[in-house]
Amino acid sequence: MIIFIALVSLFLIGAVFYSKKFRRNENDDSEIPGPGTLLFLKRVYSVGLQGFHLCLDEFGHIYGSIFGFSCMGQQFVFLNKKELIKSALSCEEFQARPRTIFSEHLMRHEIGWTSDMEEHQRLRKILHKALSIYGDGVQKFENVVSKEIESLCRRIEAQNGADFCMNDFLKDSLVNLVSILLSGKRIEDHEGDSFDVDVIWNYIESCETVAHPLTMLVLSVFPFLRNMPGYWGNVYEENKKTRERILDIFYSSMKETYVPGKIRGIVDVLFEIQEKERSRETQWLTDAHVQGTILDIVVAGLVTSHHTLSAFFLTLLHYPTVQRKIHKEIGDVIGFHEPPCLNDRPQMPYTQASVLENFRCSSIVPIGLPRRAIRESLLDGFVVRKNAVISPCLSSLHHDDTIYDDPHIFHAERFLDDKGKLLPQEDSQHQSLLPFGYGRRQCPGETFAKSRIFLYITTLVQKFEFLVSGNAPLPEWDPITYDHKLTSIPPRFMCCTKTYPRDP
Ligand code: HEM
Repeated sequence: MIIFIALVSLFLIGAVFYSKKFRRNENDDSEIPGPGTLLFLKRVYSVGLQGFHLCLDEFGHIYGSIFGFSCMGQQFVFLNKKELIKSALSCEEFQARPRTIFSEHLMRHEIGWTSDMEEHQRLRKILHKALSIYGDGVQKFENVVSKEIESLCRRIEAQNGADFCMNDFLKDSLVNLVSILLSGKRIEDHEGDSFDVDVIWNYIESCETVAHPLTMLVLSVFPFLRNMPGYWGNVYEENKKTRERILDIFYSSMKETYVPGKIRGIVDVLFEIQEKERSRETQWLTDAHVQGTILDIVVAGLVTSHHTLSAFFLTLLHYPTVQRKIHKEIGDVIGFHEPPCLNDRPQMPYTQASVLENFRCSSIVPIGLPRRAIRESLLDGFVVRKNAVISPCLSSLHHDDTIYDDPHIFHAERFLDDKGKLLPQEDSQHQSLLPFGYGRRQCPGETFAKSRIFLYITTLVQKFEFLVSGNAPLPEWDPITYDHKLTSIPPRFMCCTKTYPRDP
């Protein structure tokens, strides 16, 4: 602990002295406004990982749509207005990711962290192809997801009205779903000792900590900390260890038992691509790429969907009228005999609006993944230096009261017109909602995630009424109170259910 405090203090002192060299010139209009390094670090130090995005929100109110600071010669730029975020995220100069411990040592060949744009484009195409074994054949995707949700329903039914932790139930179900999509098997069907949901979840939690902007900042400035005993060293080692466990199951074991032409899941699609390339002697997709794509699906795909759904069900407990309206729409459009399917979605504007409002309120990725400027450029008339780290404050944008009235209230109707139809895509509220980022690096799992979220919500709300537990206090609703790492993490909560009669 003493070493930790000494190092952090050293970091602060060093950062301030070194940054004096790069201090902004108050009289230069092209300099990005912002707090001095000391003020920024002091504020961040006092709120920690938890309140980082709220502290950015405060600075946004003080300095405006673009602000920043420099630390150890490194410029950090934050954006919080729609136009600026969109223009920066789609601008060719800002498509690379920063060079961090995460991108250089832990996630080198992942789509999300590579800065080689040719590699990036090819990997994105490959991910789309791999996902399309479930996505294109919508029927197949629906069958797999619906089967998994059915087993979640059976588990909830077996509670017989007793309390259960919704976050945990969702976690088990989504982890199993990812396991089936990758390998064709549920978690418990994998050979090997002690492989369970927690092995995957521990890796996800570790990635959340390692990829947090603050961790990246500290480890980029003091890379040696990752090899030293103590907090940062443990964070780094834990990530490497848990990552190996996941690759043992979803890569090594799958490779050992792979039979060409026999596709068990997404991982085999990647092996098939490798096989084809080998036969044409155009080998490009390396084993490291395959492993990176698997980890992308596990981490980026799971944690975001889990937190989005947990936030949604917490909202249903706080806002029972929302639950009733969705249930009614399900009754009107689907009825209570057939399970929901993706074709029902266009006929369900209220449910769709609630999903959008949940994306907005919960802002599960509060600060979009950072980008790096590959050359010095101008943004909104301000100079962004080469290698500057640019981060969109998505949560601030989603709570901008010049776009959304009463932004801290859940109000699905804001996405509906006065006839109850979903607002068109061109509407400014729609246009300002960027939960999946923007530009060439926009989330490639968006369609996949939205389909999965729709099926989970409609299938569960069709069958069950979700009720507040009588035995455990319900945590607050306001996402401002969530725990924060790389994502916003809704609190764990207990609930119980009543099963609707089939003909209500
Ligand atoms: C509710 C669910 C999800 C949310 C809110 C979400 C959000 C995001 C955001 C904000 C980004 C950063 C985009 C940018 O830099 O502009 C991103 C990137 C990414 N997401 Fe998602 N995501 C979700 C689900 C998924 C799923 C299901 C997958 C995979 C199957 C996935 C895979 C990725 C990957 C690989 C990237 C990196 C893209 C790149 O750098 O080119 N995500 N996501």
